Amino acid sequence: MQPVDASKALELASALPARYYFGEDMLAMEQRAVFALSWQLVAHAGQLAEAGDHVVGKVGEVPVILVRGQDGVLRGFPNVCRHRAGPLALCNGKGARALHCKYHGWTYTLEGQLRSAPEMQDAAAFDLQEIRLPPLRVHEWQGLVFVALDEAVPDFDEVYAGIVERIAPIDLSAMRYLRRDSYDIDCNWKVYIDNFLEGYHLPHVHPGLSRVLDYRAYDTELFPWHSLQSSPLRGDSDAYGEGQAYYYFVYPNVMLNIMPGRLQTNRILPLGPGRCRVEFDYYYAQDEQAMARIAADQSFSDEVQVEDIGICEAVQQGLASGFYHAGRLCPKRESGVWHFQNLLRAAYADGAGASA
Ligand code: FES
Ligand SMILES: [Fe+2]
Repeated sequence: MQPVDASKALELASALPARYYFGEDMLAMEQRAVFALSWQLVAHAGQLAEAGDHVVGKVGEVPVILVRGQDGVLRGFPNVCRHRAGPLALCNGKGARALHCKYHGWTYTLEGQLRSAPEMQDAAAFDLQEIRLPPLRVHEWQGLVFVALDEAVPDFDEVYAGIVERIAPIDLSAMRYLRRDSYDIDCNWKVYIDNFLEGYHLPHVHPGLSRVLDYRAYDTELFPWHSLQSSPLRGDSDAYGEGQAYYYFVYPNVMLNIMPGRLQTNRILPLGPGRCRVEFDYYYAQDEQAMARIAADQSFSDEVQVEDIGICEAVQQGLASGFYHAGRLCPKRESGVWHFQNLLRAAYADGAGASA
């Protein structure tokens, strides 16, 4: 799939029709055409520092395992045994010597080679050496670890191009993971992302955040696979201090909310057609100023999130009402929504042979 310029000029654009926001068939198509064909954020580097450290997760519908080998190389595999599809691990772990399947105990090296298989002596033409876990594409970037299932997914550097340079002197690689907050929301995963992608709702939904950001200077820029909303910080809040706020969205479901000394990643995961989970992971620079803001940052972020959840759940009901038809977008404030929905239109056309 190629990034698209537009199916329609922004000045003429309408939002995605409501039918894309519900139905099991629609979500199944998105799992194949969107999630399985993109870089998915699965772990952070601190979870995978030493040989044998491993993280389990899912990319689309596929269970995956990330594991650091004895040779120091980080690898990813489907978390699916070659015997009868059992799991190689059920949860994250540290310092494993090997991967033992939880079903019948076949054992693989950390590099994915089958090493032993109990009681298989009567199996003819059965050679351990011929059985390996298939390697997945893995990429470490700024302390975050991503997996792609398919060779058709563009190179990681193409998708994330320019972010590190743009936010300098903020250095994401110097930040350390602190904690995760998860929110389960009664809306389609795209409703949450559409909402993230525009500041148009700021004055109406987020009175507190509007006082911290400069709405008049709030700006949106578009890149092939990501968009950036940015705003100067007014500098008088306990949560953020001075500088610039950068809100990156990287197709299809990763957000990087960056302020001086702080990174918050958001991962949006569908739980069903009308329900999603939003995971906020907090990372902080190891300096006193950043540390002093942690409590205020997290409680303010939670306050804003509660406001977004309320509006997203109401929008989901509106989309499902039967009374909504794709409305016109605001060119000045909703170019990020247009950009995301155009990437989806291209994915849907590839995935279902139908255009949106
Ligand atoms: S499924 Fe893994 S050992 Fe049987
Ligand atoms: Fe919001």
